[in-house]
Amino acid sequence: MTEEVRAGAATGTVVRTDDGWPVSPSRVPTSVDRTMSRLPRARVVVLSVVVLVLVACAAYFGWDRGVGPVESVAAPTAKPSPTPGPPALRDLMPPNVRIGSAVNGQMLASDARYRETLSSQFNAVTSENAMKWTILEPKRGVYDWSASDQFVDFAKANGQAVYGHTLLWHSNTPVWVTESWSPEQLRAVLKQHITTVVSRYRGKIWAWDVVNEVLAEDGSLRDSLWLRKLGPRYIADAFRWAHEADPDARLFINDYGTEGRTRKADGLLRLVKELRAGGAPVHGVGFQSHIRLGAPPKDAAGNLRRFAALGVSVAITELDVRIPLPVTTQKLLDQALLYQHMLKACLAVATCESVTLWGFTDVSSWIGSHYPGYGAACVFDEEFAPKPAHGALAQELSARKSASPN
Ligand code: XIL
Repeated sequence: MTEEVRAGAATGTVVRTDDGWPVSPSRVPTSVDRTMSRLPRARVVVLSVVVLVLVACAAYFGWDRGVGPVESVAAPTAKPSPTPGPPALRDLMPPNVRIGSAVNGQMLASDARYRETLSSQFNAVTSENAMKWTILEPKRGVYDWSASDQFVDFAKANGQAVYGHTLLWHSNTPVWVTESWSPEQLRAVLKQHITTVVSRYRGKIWAWDVVNEVLAEDGSLRDSLWLRKLGPRYIADAFRWAHEADPDARLFINDYGTEGRTRKADGLLRLVKELRAGGAPVHGVGFQSHIRLGAPPKDAAGNLRRFAALGVSVAITELDVRIPLPVTTQKLLDQALLYQHMLKACLAVATCESVTLWGFTDVSSWIGSHYPGYGAACVFDEEFAPKPAHGALAQELSARKSASPN
């Protein structure tokens, strides 16, 4: 993240309670200003210096509630009176639709604020990286389950459904998988990986992204190791192997640039139709929805509907809205509208199963490192304060909930 994002991500003007939640300006006491105006100038200067020193000391010794040693500061003896946090999105969702977030493994392990917001706001989680092939099987046949187990355990403890991401992706194939193998060898390795991973979490996973990003921008199949060596059937095979290993898991095909009506989306539609006609257990289509501010997907609701008409579920799987820097208040409001737009698109389709955000706080979003010049893509800022985008989601959901409480 750049300094500009830090400065711009709605932290400058927001006033917070001791708990970190922003309060409206009308709740900020103004008596200090009034007292100051009655004092002689010299005393005002001395008083200001004293106040500045006190504020600096307080900030240094513990107002900052970030990661690290500050967290180990002894808990206060008297329990502070509870301050209401932002509305929990998970409590506002319609019963048949989940609200999820991608989970950053490092933050999960080290930051209590992260865990608290993740568990209170979301009823579904996707591992941002922990279930990718390179992480799970760094050497052939040698699995490291530590990060993924921790993630699955956290979800269970907090009543969250687990969305597994992802069994097969051109971008995350370990280096030990080599193109010099024969097609038979490669197929056996792929089958082994999918079977091992899905079996380990059998019964604990709500849905799997079986294949990720298998399409090229023009809607044809992406040129990859798998396509070159195994031919197009590798996709249906992956679905069959996953289904055999966990017959109850929902199986999704996931891609980007398909959330609106694009050539790629047309190609995805054709592919899903073919796969299902051939008997492959494809239960759902995931639309990543990494959106750039100012570039809304074309007719997202209509696009989701045409997939649903094939008889599959749909899901928004990786929603974020990146802002070209610097961040301004107007851009944050425009971002809020796009988040709301995508939520509405999902809720407009009867078989939309979930809206998942690709991270919920700007402090750990992937955008900073992958899209130079962009940032502030999430619904909470770097201090875990809700942004207008969070308000827009909560408001949309609340309005619907009061219109049909059941
Ligand atoms: C990204 C992660 O967020 C990054 O931390 C990682 O460095 C690269 O992958 N589409 C996907 C996700 O399906 O797996 C990607 O996640 C973002 C794009």
